[in-house]
Amino acid sequence: MHVGIIMDGNGRWATKRGLARLIGHKRGATQVKKIVKCCPGFGVDTLTLYAFSTENWKRAAHEVEGLMKLFRGYLSNNLVELHEKNVCVRFLGDPSPLSADILKLMENLRTLTAHNTGLNLNVAINYGGRDELVRATKAMASKVSSGEIALEEIDEDSFAAHLDTKGQNDPDLIIRTAGEMRLSNFMTWQSAYSEFAFIKESWPDFTPQVFDAVLQNFHNRTRQFGAVVAR
Ligand code: IPE
Ligand code: IPE
Ligand code: MG
Repeated sequence: MHVGIIMDGNGRWATKRGLARLIGHKRGATQVKKIVKCCPGFGVDTLTLYAFSTENWKRAAHEVEGLMKLFRGYLSNNLVELHEKNVCVRFLGDPSPLSADILKLMENLRTLTAHNTGLNLNVAINYGGRDELVRATKAMASKVSSGEIALEEIDEDSFAAHLDTKGQNDPDLIIRTAGEMRLSNFMTWQSAYSEFAFIKESWPDFTPQVFDAVLQNFHNRTRQFGAVVAR
């Protein structure tokens, strides 16, 4: 089972408590560790976390810098534990605008854990579904123009193989915390047949218990994929 999570509401969680937004993000990072840990026991084999969107650069410079600092901390402090827990970490999104030290930490974590066989953890940083589709289209178009592939070879499968999620199943369930009911550019292609859960809890309040309840609800749904399924 592949679960995608739009981790929203850190800012509101903090503001409601009279704290700076960055404190909410910090609490959010603590939450990531707990949720990653409980995935194998919950039957989740792939977890995709939306950490930073292509639109999040619009935020105040100090908030963006604070988030980058948190990424640095997460990537370096969790390297050993993620590897010990057999987690295979991959990154989705366009890495090019990220700073050199963050890119190095991402690469270290990716290569160290590449052959792990436990949880697949996708971290979406500077990820936008539209940006991913444009990058995939450019990659395919350049192969067509160089003659590497024929126009007729473009189909859903070959196109999906040019996305950041190549080789992975689409998310079965996409969860968004903090009450907002939108995708905000998350997994535009891959969400075509995903189930959705929009929940009121903010990301810092998204405990393993809340996660478990959302998964129970998902398991009670009937998915049809366009066919007619006897109920
Ligand atoms: C989600 O929390 C974290 C990121 C987008 C990086 P927000 O920062 O969006 O929190 P709210 O939505 O303002 O409460
Ligand atoms: C989506 O949350 C992005 C991430 C969780 C990383 P936002 O808070 O940025 O989304 P909008 O702006 O409310 O749509
Ligand atoms: Mg938000």
